[in-house]
Amino acid sequence: MGLDEIVNGFPLKEEWVYLDNAATSLKHERVISAMERVLREFGVNVGRGAHPPGECATEEFERARDIVASFLGVEPECLAFTLNTTHSIHYVLASIRWKKGDAVVTTALEHHSNLAPWLRFSEVLGFEVEVVGFDRETGEVDMAELESVVDDNTRLIAITHESNALGSLQPVDEILELAEEVGAYVLLDAAQSLGHMDHDWSRYHFLAAPGHKGLLGPHGTGILYVREDVMEELELRLLGGGSTDYVTRDLEVVPREPPLSFESGTPNLPGVIGLAEGVKILEEVGLNRVERRIRKVTRRILNGLEELEGVEILAPEAERKTIVPFLVDGVDYAEVGKKLGERNICVRTGRHCASLVFERLGLDGCVRASVAFYNDIEEAERFLEVVEEIARGS
Ligand SMILES: Cc1ncc(COP(=O)(O)O)c(C=O)c1O
Repeated sequence: MGLDEIVNGFPLKEEWVYLDNAATSLKHERVISAMERVLREFGVNVGRGAHPPGECATEEFERARDIVASFLGVEPECLAFTLNTTHSIHYVLASIRWKKGDAVVTTALEHHSNLAPWLRFSEVLGFEVEVVGFDRETGEVDMAELESVVDDNTRLIAITHESNALGSLQPVDEILELAEEVGAYVLLDAAQSLGHMDHDWSRYHFLAAPGHKGLLGPHGTGILYVREDVMEELELRLLGGGSTDYVTRDLEVVPREPPLSFESGTPNLPGVIGLAEGVKILEEVGLNRVERRIRKVTRRILNGLEELEGVEILAPEAERKTIVPFLVDGVDYAEVGKKLGERNICVRTGRHCASLVFERLGLDGCVRASVAFYNDIEEAERFLEVVEEIARGS
């Protein structure tokens, strides 16, 4: 399939300028068809049925795992399918063998899904939580503060790769280095970067990401990568059908081998097959081209907004790829989003599930435009025209 055919294969794109890609991607015709085929031809359970449709479901599920793992550059045995990023993060939380005195270090940049679980479970599981601040201009974690709180008690640094509120990329090399010095794990929340950029994902101890954003999969899909050497150190606690091998007479629970041990309950087979199709599309486009196209449209939006009187871009010095957060003087952000929506332009408004970012900026929320490779300059121009009208008060 050529690029034009791929770009024009998202049905919703016909009617909408979709700049809400940080929430979830549009779904391609091929993803929709792949899912429909599952439901029609082998919509039965995975890894359980001793019958031909069941065998087909299992084979296709494992083929999908190979496709996604190969795209990520990781071993399929280290890759589990989950329901979303949040679900993946909970697996990490429930699998580390926490000990007294452990600390989790996270940041004020996090989406609630990489913040609330640590805060809520700290007492029950017995670890301390430190929340590190960020620079308002660059949107980067405050490395000096991070270095000052990370010590031998740090068990895990849980950090986003690209802030979903400010769009800022985080200095992951330095963070990995720091974690190595004290023997801590790094959990990377790649919800906003996976599928948008070429990167070595295999370096992290844990990688949590959605299937439904940059990887072009459907809702209800996510991935969890656990580095092979880390796998042995975990004690799985989120267990059920599929992930439990057996329970002994003495009531000892014996999990299955990874990655099945991370896939409790009936999996989202149509979703996973749709996700693999999304990944195939990305591979056909090529990550370099994906990245170039995203950067070009994002740059056009940034430059255009910078020129508009009465428009303020948040974290103006951020190194960003896809996300542009902004405010329009004198117009409530929710009103800006509503007016854009009335002109068939989709953006997100509010705090984007990243309360601490806005609390620390002293703001209530903002408008967020976020780009995917299927957006183009024409769409960026249309968006800018409408923002200009809103800023002028017309
Ligand atoms: C940075 C970040 N982390 C986590 C999430 C949560 O993702 P999911 O809805 O897949 O659980 C999001 C969703 O927007 C996000 O942007």
